[in-house]
Amino acid sequence: ISPQMTLIAICVLPVSIILIGLVMKRSQKYFARQQQALGDVNGHIEEMYGGHNVVKAFNGEEASVKQFNEFNDSLYESAWKSQFFSGLMQPITMFIGNVGYVAVCLLGGVLAGGGNITIGDIQAFIQYVRQFNQPITQLAQTMNMLQSTAAAAERVFEFLGEEELELETPKVGSQDVAKINGSVTFADVKFGYLKNQTIINDFNLHVHAGQTVAIVGPTGAGKTTIIKLLMRFYELNSGSIYIDGIDIRDFGRKDLRSLFGIVLQDTWLFNGTIKENLMYGKLNASDQEVKEACKVAYADHFIQTLEDGYDTIINEESSNISQGQKQLLTIARAFLKDPKILILDEATSSVDTRTEVLIQRGMEKLMEGRTSFVIAHRLSTIRDADTIIVMKDGDIVELGNHDSLLEKDGFYASLYRSQFEGISE
Ligand SMILES: Nc1ncnc2c1ncn2[C@@H]1O[C@H](COP(=O)(O)OP(=O)(O)OP(=O)(O)O)[C@@H](O)[C@H]1O
Ligand SMILES: [Mg+2]
Repeated sequence: ISPQMTLIAICVLPVSIILIGLVMKRSQKYFARQQQALGDVNGHIEEMYGGHNVVKAFNGEEASVKQFNEFNDSLYESAWKSQFFSGLMQPITMFIGNVGYVAVCLLGGVLAGGGNITIGDIQAFIQYVRQFNQPITQLAQTMNMLQSTAAAAERVFEFLGEEELELETPKVGSQDVAKINGSVTFADVKFGYLKNQTIINDFNLHVHAGQTVAIVGPTGAGKTTIIKLLMRFYELNSGSIYIDGIDIRDFGRKDLRSLFGIVLQDTWLFNGTIKENLMYGKLNASDQEVKEACKVAYADHFIQTLEDGYDTIINEESSNISQGQKQLLTIARAFLKDPKILILDEATSSVDTRTEVLIQRGMEKLMEGRTSFVIAHRLSTIRDADTIIVMKDGDIVELGNHDSLLEKDGFYASLYRSQFEGISE
């Protein structure tokens, strides 16, 4: 219709883009900050809610509220700024677009006055310009969404950028796993959670299939670490671990872990019925099997006293049963799985001593023909183990059975005596 008017209409485009670019540059950092602050606020709420007993016991409400206000203020600051800037986009593009109209109308008036263009053409042109500008305004709106998405994605990419698990290179098939007897060998194992800090210095141990091995030692000696390494939760710095002579790196992780029944030091049950929790390791277990496992773990009795029995729902924080009862359930869960290798890490630390003895008696039957690792601080519980390993600062300092270790009169003997006669030294 008119090249001059087209030129003016098109001039609107770069001006809009430049202004949008300027605003986006400013607002992007607020979007990123908003996501960060949102994460802080949510993290803080979850933490304080989860530990609210401790917070109250230490009169930490005030400090907690103060901390919350700090996070919340920072969220408020960043959120209103990001919203303000992104809210500017549409008015800016609309304003520029309207300035464009005015320019087009003025030029159209001049041209029409000179008789170079008809009023109808101007009318049509304005219509077209409107259609041309509309998508740009929409684009500006979409930019807002893209910006907050980009800020959120940044945090996702941070997570995705984390170091990957070492690739699995299974050389042993699942069918071979069924034939495993359960002998375990640690050969020159070195490990540290951090690069420059070795915790396990040079760990060597051979456990015959079917043996019961007790690991004792002071807090922080590395007992749990050894178990985590055995289950390949972490990669070794050097050395190897073998099960039936096969390096654990030659198993698929899933196959390897199918060998173990484990009671971890920190009991974990999920929101669901007791039965569902018990069947976690063996989904096709029959009611009879579940009950049997609970009897051995001395969980059956207390479950019976609950109103809904095995269908009692354990809440999200599993706070509707006691700590010791939780442990009984985790023990029953490990028993039910019927594993080749049983691992009990402080499994009965919260259970009364009488029940502990009863569980032990039940377990003796269960441990027959099964390799088991038992970690315990109460030394009375591990007296009958085939081998007792005494660990200190990541090393084995003594090894033998109860009698031979007492005879040796070393670290174990002093530990043992301290539990029964009070602390010497
Ligand atoms: N995830 C981790 N990151 C860094 N260091 C860790 C980690 N877990 C444990 N450690 C450190 O490793 C050492 C051994 O911890 P480990 O949990 O094996 O001790 P433990 O013998 O099981 O003690 P406890 O009797 O208290 O359960 C400790 O000094 C501990 O601080
Ligand atoms: Mg531990």
